[in-house]
Amino acid sequence: MADRIAAVTGANGGIGRETVHALLADGRQVAAFDLEIDSLDGLDAGSGQLLKRSVDVTDATAVEEAFAEVAKEIGAPDVLVNIAGTNRILGLLDTTEEIWDYLLDLNLKGTFLCCRAVVPHMRSRGGGRIINMSSIFGIRGEARQVAYSASKAGVVGLTRALATELAPDSITVNALAPVMTLTPRVAALPAEFQQLQLSRIPLGRYGSVADIVGTIVFLLSDVGAFYTGQTFSANGGDTMP
Ligand SMILES: NC(=O)c1ccc[n+]([C@@H]2O[C@H](COP(=O)([O-])OP(=O)(O)OC[C@H]3O[C@@H](n4cnc5c(N)ncnc54)[C@H](O)[C@@H]3O)[C@@H](O)[C@H]2O)c1
Repeated sequence: MADRIAAVTGANGGIGRETVHALLADGRQVAAFDLEIDSLDGLDAGSGQLLKRSVDVTDATAVEEAFAEVAKEIGAPDVLVNIAGTNRILGLLDTTEEIWDYLLDLNLKGTFLCCRAVVPHMRSRGGGRIINMSSIFGIRGEARQVAYSASKAGVVGLTRALATELAPDSITVNALAPVMTLTPRVAALPAEFQQLQLSRIPLGRYGSVADIVGTIVFLLSDVGAFYTGQTFSANGGDTMP
């Protein structure tokens, strides 16, 4: 199992927690990063090992230190799942510079910083797999999701660039672009916004966290080895490329 060490950001969130669960259940050692990681309690590490660290993914120094610490304590990660991120429902004229900077920093720069920090460790291992969280809004755009859509489209571009650059290192890089998925954060969004999203999904339901985690497990499995630079959109038919 020495080659199965995963770092997960946003590990205390709706999708992040279940991702940590799934990777531990698969016998991996997991480094769980979040702003408020101390509340990531009650997880049964099973045959895996869980290392929890409070890390702000927008802080370059903290990110570098966190990955160095993981490498020292449980070994160099061969998997990174970048999940930390959030959104705001705001139209163009209500999107302040502060909100723009906050969402671009968290969703895009945070993903970049974690990729940059993990790659030397993956190179030392002879390869790895990176999964970045985009969104359906990063593919088709969405009214009143101005900064969020821009940040998540940026994640797709970052993913494709890294997939090309890191292929010679046997590092694959893919993105996820889910449709609305009912985590506690999303369930608290205005009902009218949720209803609008649901009305666009041909399969007639929101995404589930299991839909997302299942895609992650697939991409980290043996049969996921030949996918890189792709954007996997669990979206019930909302958008068809
Ligand atoms: N839930 C959905 O409908 C949906 C759809 C598409 C994409 N996504 C994306 O999936 C990811 C997770 O969504 P979720 O619904 O589970 O959200 P969530 O709010 O439950 O989880 C996000 C986690 O990120 C953490 N975080 C925030 N800022 C951070 C920082 N600076 N450093 C480290 N961690 C930080 C939060 O503390 C939280 O635990 C996000 O990137 C989101 O944009 C979600």
